[in-house]
Amino acid sequence: MTTLTPDMLVSGIRQSQRDEPDSGILSAVNHGFGRKGLIPLWTGEGPLQTPEFICQAASKAMFDGETFYTWQRGLPQLRAALAAYHEKFWPGPFSAERFFVTGGGMQAIQVALQLLADKGEEIVIPSPAWPNFPGPMRMMGVKPAFVPMLYNDRKWSLDLDRMRDSIGPKTRAICLISPSNPIGWVASREDLIAIRDMAREAGVWILADEVYSRFYYGPDTAGVARSPSFMDVCDPDERVIYINTFSKNWAMTGWRIGWLQAPEALGPAIERIIQYNTSGTAAFMQKGALAALENGEDFVEMQIEMARACRAKVAGALGQLNNVSFENAQGAFYSFFRIDGLIDSLGATLRIIDEANVGLAPGGTFGPGGEGFLRMCYLRDPDSLDEALVRLTAWLRQA
Ligand SMILES: Cc1ncc(COP(=O)(O)O)c(C=O)c1O
Repeated sequence: MTTLTPDMLVSGIRQSQRDEPDSGILSAVNHGFGRKGLIPLWTGEGPLQTPEFICQAASKAMFDGETFYTWQRGLPQLRAALAAYHEKFWPGPFSAERFFVTGGGMQAIQVALQLLADKGEEIVIPSPAWPNFPGPMRMMGVKPAFVPMLYNDRKWSLDLDRMRDSIGPKTRAICLISPSNPIGWVASREDLIAIRDMAREAGVWILADEVYSRFYYGPDTAGVARSPSFMDVCDPDERVIYINTFSKNWAMTGWRIGWLQAPEALGPAIERIIQYNTSGTAAFMQKGALAALENGEDFVEMQIEMARACRAKVAGALGQLNNVSFENAQGAFYSFFRIDGLIDSLGATLRIIDEANVGLAPGGTFGPGGEGFLRMCYLRDPDSLDEALVRLTAWLRQA
């Protein structure tokens, strides 16, 4: 028998998997992970461990024997708590039947994509966008139809006419990440209404990622500090699927637990996808998530305040540099800044790791419009953020 070379093995897998480029975020992490003294601002997470009461609830459930297969859609108790959590911040009413527990926001995205689009079809998405939307689309043979965001006078905006023009016969959905990763841009209520109307007119779905909705620094929305939402302007039973996660609000990125909100009618279809993908999320982890929803509000508010203070520090430090431009955006916890003359953001990211010992993400990995920028996750403890900014501004001054 002939020995198969690595190239021969790889050439035998699906072309869409072979062709997909690596995420530049991972390329940066793989280059610098574990370096002594490196300050990691490359992925979207803060410095705090999951609060103890959440860990205790999960570990108690595990020791109490919640170690068996469980509900595919999620524990009824957790789904009811998700409905109650939504009632506090968005216009309801919300029934538990609308909520589905997933393996992180990432699996909620996978479920939504599997629900909505087939090979050869398209999903409209403004760009720059977090690569974990267009990446899995391409891997499924679905084309991300990018709508380049406009960056003028240090401000990002969405060209609604261009978005409308990008909807065609193959379009199945419009995907909107707001607040945006990576640019922090937040869709206004008017933007959301316009997109809703486009979707209604074309008979396509809206895929709404509102993972960062609580990290919002703009004006209050109806007295509640959270970003404008499709929930403000859409009917509960129209074609909208919401992606969300426990990762950010409650510092649970390593848990891999999130949720999806969809019209009740999709329940059996979503249950089937979960069954055939992961067969559900560990029951004991769901008990941790339940504790987060029931007792975690103080922690969320503390993290939002921390993000707000970090945002001000970053704006102050980068704002002093003549060769750097950025919008002090209203949402999420990223600074997406452009460096004059930069044409290779991955190369710059690797050099900043080597020369300044700070980990960032390359703008080019976020798709059209992202090259020339770098992304910094600024949710950090104040001392290490200060130190990162000293190192980074020194590097940028000589860039
Ligand atoms: C916009 C956006 N959506 C979804 C997610 C998924 O979150 P997770 O899979 O970590 O729960 C992230 C994580 O960074 C994100 O930035």
